Amino acid sequence: MAESCFKSFLSLITISIFVIFYINDIVAVDGKSQTFGRVLNPINLGLKEEKLSHFRVYWHDIVGGKNPTSIQVARAPSTNKSKTGFGAVVMIDDPLTEGPELSSKLMGRAQGLYAMAGVNEVAALMNMNFAFMVGKYNGSTISIMGQNKVLTKVREMSIVGGSGLFRFARGYVQARTHKLDLKTGDATVEYNIYVFHY
Ligand SMILES: *[C@@H]1O[C@H](CO)[C@@H](O)[C@H](O)[C@H]1NC(C)=O
Ligand SMILES: *[C@@H]1O[C@H](CO)[C@@H](O)[C@H](O)[C@H]1NC(C)=O
Repeated sequence: MAESCFKSFLSLITISIFVIFYINDIVAVDGKSQTFGRVLNPINLGLKEEKLSHFRVYWHDIVGGKNPTSIQVARAPSTNKSKTGFGAVVMIDDPLTEGPELSSKLMGRAQGLYAMAGVNEVAALMNMNFAFMVGKYNGSTISIMGQNKVLTKVREMSIVGGSGLFRFARGYVQARTHKLDLKTGDATVEYNIYVFHY
């Protein structure tokens, strides 16, 4: 009696182990078990508590001069005739500084591109990574994508993700033009970043 009890206990354990592995693994069409996907505990990735951080940087779009950080790489045949610049695509590697002056401390760079996406309004599609270069944030990035109606006082764009200290980032940024040089086209924009991350 005791022995059969023990045997069924053993087979129960065997079945449980089988079920646990079976559920954790994804079974391919051919019936073979794969370890393509599995459920993880966030603690195992060092993800403890999500926090909300605020950062402020100044973004410098340098169009003129000998060393521009913002260059037009494409346009449509009709772009020149468009009042809103519709169709222009601009690649950027813009410095992000601590203060509004370009000479203030370099905090990182905004790398990516923006494209003029409005037929009837001056609206850019922004698609850029803020790559930080200071302190513990050195090497971490925040990815920003959104609509930028550049003539509006405050423009809000989405944070769609991040890397390093900004893994699993979500949030938004608010952009305010600080200075615009109409002669050169150079612009300084204040970016306030509100980001949830771990
Ligand atoms: C548009 O203007 C630029 C200079 O502003 C010029 O180099 C280019 O050839 C023009 N393109 C067309 C399609 O007219
Ligand atoms: C940031 O990281 C790069 C590459 O690891 C390193 O060369 C650089 O000195 C670091 N900068 C700071 C300010 O820590």
